[in-house]
This record gives sequence, C-alpha cells and structure tokens, in this order.
Amino acid sequence: MRLLVTGGCGFIGANFLYALRARHPEWRLWNLDKLTYAGNLGNLRPLTAEAGDAYTFVHGDICDRDLVTRLLAEHQIDAVVNFAAESHVDRSIDDPAPFVLTNVLGAQNILDCARRAGVSRVVHVSTDEVYGSLGATGQFHETTPLAPNSPYSASKAGADLIARAYHETYGQDIVVTRCSNNYGPYQFPEKLIPLMYCKALAGEPLPVYGDGRNVRDWIFVDDHCLGIELALLKGRAGAVYNFGGAAEMENIEVVRTILHLTGRDDSLIRFVTDRPGHDRRYAMNFDLAATELGFAPSVTFAQGMARTIAWYQANPDWLSEVQSGAYLTFMESWYKERA
Ligand code: NAD
Ligand code: DAU
Repeated sequence: MRLLVTGGCGFIGANFLYALRARHPEWRLWNLDKLTYAGNLGNLRPLTAEAGDAYTFVHGDICDRDLVTRLLAEHQIDAVVNFAAESHVDRSIDDPAPFVLTNVLGAQNILDCARRAGVSRVVHVSTDEVYGSLGATGQFHETTPLAPNSPYSASKAGADLIARAYHETYGQDIVVTRCSNNYGPYQFPEKLIPLMYCKALAGEPLPVYGDGRNVRDWIFVDDHCLGIELALLKGRAGAVYNFGGAAEMENIEVVRTILHLTGRDDSLIRFVTDRPGHDRRYAMNFDLAATELGFAPSVTFAQGMARTIAWYQANPDWLSEVQSGAYLTFMESWYKERA
C-alpha cells in the first residue's frame, strides 16, 4: 500500500502513523501536514529516524491543489486518509474562518484531487460532533440527522456531506468515519484531559465549563486508529462508520480521575463560564462498525487513562515544547474571559 496521510503531525495522525508502521512495515507512508500550532514534527521523530524510505514527510497545505495533485501522481498513491483539520471547538468559537478553509475547502480539495488522480479510496475522518447534542438518553447512529452546534462541528459536517455527495455523484470510493472523544499520547494540551493534567501538575485551578455534567464518550486513541485502519481495508465504499469507546462519562468525573492520578484533590476544581453552544451529551452506537469491520474498543477508560498519564509523566519536554508561543496567547485570552 502507498498511503497518503494528511495531518499526521497532530495527535491522532501521529498515533495512526506509528500504528501502521508497526502493523504494516511493508507499506509506504507519506504525511502531508501544514504544521499549524497543533502540528509538531517532533511527534514523529522516532518514526522518521527508523523508517527510512518507508516514511516521508511533506510540509504543505491540503488546500493546495497543485501540491496535492503532484503528490498523488508522483508517488502513485493508492489511498488517502484525511485527518488534517482545525480541531479545537473553543478556537472555532474564537475565530471560525480557518475551520471553514481547512475543514471544508481543504477536505473538498483532497477529494477532488484524489478523484482526478484515480486514487482507489479516501477515508475521510469526521467526528461524532456532526450529530449535535443528545438528551439524557439515546445514542447517535449513522442515520441520525446531522445537527452541528459549533463552527468546528459545522465545518466537519460540511466536509462529511461533501464526501457523501462525491460518492453519490461521481461514484468515488470514499469511507467516512465518525468517532467520539479521543485521548492518549501526543494530545495537544488545549483539550480537556491533557489540559487538566497540566493544570493539576502545576497546582493551578482546573477550569470546568458550566456545571461539569456534560457527557463525552471517551476512546483511547489506539482504538480509534485501529477503527480507521479497518475502515480503510474493509469498509464499504460510501459507508459511514461510527466509532466509540463505550465509556460515557461526565466531565467532572474525568477531572476527578486526573486529580486522583496526579495526587491532587478537588480543591483545585473551578466551575467557569460555560462554552457557548456547549453540546450536553454524546453517545455512540457502533454496531455497524462491529458487524462490518470487526471493530471493538479494547482499552477501558481506567487502562487508557493510566497509560495516558504515564506517557505525559514520561514526556515533560514534549509538554513544555508545545506549551509556548501561540499556544500561550490563545490560552491566556480564552480563559481570562471565563474566569
Ligand atoms: P490535531 O489538531 O491534533 O491535529 C491536526 C493536524 O492537522 C495538525 O498536525 C495540523 O498541523 C494539521 N493541519 C491543520 N490544517 C492543515 C492544513 N490545511 N493542511 C495540512 N495539515 C493541516 O487534531 P486531532 O485531534 O489529531 O484530530 C485529527 C482529525 O480527527 C480531525 O479531522 C478531527 O476532526 C478528527 N477527530 C478528532 C477527535 C478527537 O477527539 N481529537 C475525535 C473524532 C474525530
Ligand atoms: O467528540 C469528538 C471531538 O472531541 C473532536 O471532534 C474534537 O476535535 C475534539 O476537540 C473533541 O471536542 P470536545 O469539545 O468534546 O473536546 P474538549 O477536550 O475541548 O472538551 C471536552 C469536554 O470538556 C467538553 O464538554 C468541554 C469540556 N471542557 C473543555 C475544556 C478545554 C471544560 O470543561 N474545560 C476546558 O477547559
């Protein structure tokens, strides 16, 4: 397989590349990444050092038609997995424009270029957030109507529907995946779990939005990566697959778990102004992926959290490297308004 992965210097993309390298050492991997604030070349240092010709990094933008066209042709790419995105909901509230640019137009460019180049399959990585919010009961199914509530999720829904339209209109082989909240190594410390870990470590207040009772379904990143690999290898053209971790939890429980694992107590918890348009609850039904792909989450929340916290504890340099510059500017202004 000659595979182009986009956004491979981010959290899930990097974990995906490591997983593929371990399971399919004979594959040739290309990683196209713009290196935004969330993209970190250092995430792939060991892979770069070890893989030789089997792994190539390309610095560039998924919106760049000439570059993507050239890459696909020059390297005779068989398939593309598109992770590249602006991924943080709070940043999309602060400034939606880059989200529309990369998440909608960039994704459309990838699909267009892949179609013209005759690429056999594109896996488009979407999200459970396209479904919007659930009440106290029920689950999202692949047939649940899309009702996104943030600029981020609306941009992801836009691309998700373009992928559907390209399959229907052009017969293009596209598989869409929608997954719940990931956690694990290399997650950027703007997202709940690594952010709260950093705050707990520093003995700083932990900013919990609203009443802290919003529910997310947490999946360890390796399980999501395996799901995407299964979608790439076994998915039906035109299908959408939900993935989840079967680990629904209120945010406050997640925060208390982190306090416990870092030896801190609840006195650090601060309830702050809620996120505007904050989705109340996500829960995924992934029966289709279980039946058609053989997908099942293999890591419990307790196991995944123990592995995650151990990784962050073993990699303090990674954390201090990414917590600088543009990271600090956004974090300071966002949380100042919510205190
Ligand atoms: P991330 O923010 O950690 O990484 C995004 C990567 O994309 C970065 O390396 C960045 O440099 C790159 N990128 C951004 N814009 C680009 C552009 N225009 N061209 C090329 N590269 C660009 O994101 P993540 O959490 O790893 O998420 C990856 C994908 O998975 C996203 O599409 C996201 O919507 C989806 N997803 C994430 C989760 C989650 O819980 N994190 C859950 C479901 C789906
Ligand atoms: O569900 C999948 C989505 O999960 C992905 O598509 C997104 O890319 C990813 O960012 C994530 O979105 P969330 O908004 O759910 O994740 P986040 O880590 O930002 O927040 C998780 C929950 O924690 C959410 O209910 C908001 C809350 N929260 C978050 C932060 C950053 C807080 O209470 N305080 C905080 O400071």
